Amino acid sequence: MRIEILTTLPQVIEAYVGESILGRARRKGIVEVEAVNLRDFAEDRHRTTDDAPFGGGPGMVMKCEPVFKAVEALKARRMGAQPRIVLMTPQGRRFDQKMAEELAAENYVIILCGRYEGVDERIRQHLVTDEVSIGDYVLTGGELAALVVTDAVVRLVPGVLGDETSPEFETFSSGLLEYPHYTRPADFRGHEVPEVLLSGNHARIEKWRREQALTRTLERRPDLLETAPLSEEDRRFLNELRESDIH
Ligand code: 6GU
Repeated sequence: MRIEILTTLPQVIEAYVGESILGRARRKGIVEVEAVNLRDFAEDRHRTTDDAPFGGGPGMVMKCEPVFKAVEALKARRMGAQPRIVLMTPQGRRFDQKMAEELAAENYVIILCGRYEGVDERIRQHLVTDEVSIGDYVLTGGELAALVVTDAVVRLVPGVLGDETSPEFETFSSGLLEYPHYTRPADFRGHEVPEVLLSGNHARIEKWRREQALTRTLERRPDLLETAPLSEEDRRFLNELRESDIH
């Protein structure tokens, strides 16, 4: 898989990618993640990538030419490729685990970091295939959002995580929040690890973990229970929990 991130701040992207698990995956040759400097595709002496809005008003708008030129140059490097071209913008579709899985199935994605004030509408209309937001709050630029998306996508690529940490078993894949974790010591300042985890009884441990995950999800994110795959036993346990809570 290849992800190219178009930005005026490539060193910001590179700082995180280089020092994280993404960097390790890149060095292992499992993924390619590259920050591409948008300024390299500006045509004027000052390498301008934004300009004042037609019609007046505050803020600057990301110009068409450097963005189109950059995307065309990147596509030309990989002849015939038809990448997803994702614009990071607070106006986009809300990013979630399902979208991460969808993007992880692609082999080539270009992410364009928008600036908050805006991008020329013709970039949205004639270049971009997807508009993505990471949540309902405002960032100064798309770089952090692009890193969030890149991180969530790359970790799903087979081989990126150690094989003992398969993403299938975690929170948003099981549809539930995770059960609590403990490590040594068994007694930390009088706070003890639940006895069941020291029992060596794997059936009991599995049952306890499942019940903890269900309890947490009911307490913190009951909305997730509407779509999580639940067994008959899970439903019985949840009904008992709800009953005991009422009384
Ligand atoms: Cl993708 N960009 C900006 N600037 N702010 C955001 C965002 C993106 N997602 C949430 N807030």
